[in-house]
Amino acid sequence: MKIRTERSEDCGEIFDVVGSAYGEGGHASHKQQLLVEGLRDSESFVRELSLVAEMDGEIVGYIVLARIRIITKELQKGALALATIAVVKRYRGKGIGAKLIQKAHRRAKALGFDAVIAVGGGEYFQKFGYQGIKKYGIEVPFDGPDERGMVKELTENALEGIKGTVEYPREFYRKGTATGKVKQ
Ligand SMILES: CC(C)(COP(=O)(O)OP(=O)(O)OC[C@H]1O[C@@H](n2cnc3c(N)ncnc32)[C@H](O)[C@@H]1OP(=O)(O)O)[C@@H](O)C(=O)NCCC(=O)NCCS
Repeated sequence: MKIRTERSEDCGEIFDVVGSAYGEGGHASHKQQLLVEGLRDSESFVRELSLVAEMDGEIVGYIVLARIRIITKELQKGALALATIAVVKRYRGKGIGAKLIQKAHRRAKALGFDAVIAVGGGEYFQKFGYQGIKKYGIEVPFDGPDERGMVKELTENALEGIKGTVEYPREFYRKGTATGKVKQ
């Protein structure tokens, strides 16, 4: 299994991998693949942080981290959103999701990013050092049944003293995605 940066010819396969992973069983995030497509054409896209897991020439997993900003009273801090992670059903539980996250974190840090914010997927993300957002005094603008925000500091204390609201690119607000339900 190889993890590598996405290439332009991967887009169709990524669309299907994300669509099927998030669309299972009438999941509320059935349009997550459209968020991925939208991000690719946006300023928040960082190609080196859009990674596929490839097995025998087949794409079996995908992750994308995208640029966001945390808006505080004093400043705007750049960070990343874990926008999407998906693994094809028959390949789950083999650590592919873990490898995608770990590689994305390493690359993000090497590019100078120091924090990642994820929405949903609480227990899964905890395995990789993500912590509930409430502890940080940071808010995300999305509603949902689970705790809406998990934070991973890539550098120790990267978010110390940062209290504010995350500003997402507009693609995250698309209805039918994991983040599409806006807080009232
Ligand atoms: C989440 C996902 C990417 C994990 O991929 P994976 O390759 O199976 O992950 P790993 O093999 O690294 O880890 C599997 C472990 O995580 C657990 N896990 C998977 N999804 C989980 C979730 N939503 N919450 C808590 N634990 C979860 C599994 O039970 C397994 O536990 P174990 O190692 O104790 O057996 C995959 O299940 C998926 O594509 N899900 C649908 C899309 C999705 O929900 N994405 C995340 C949205 S926030």
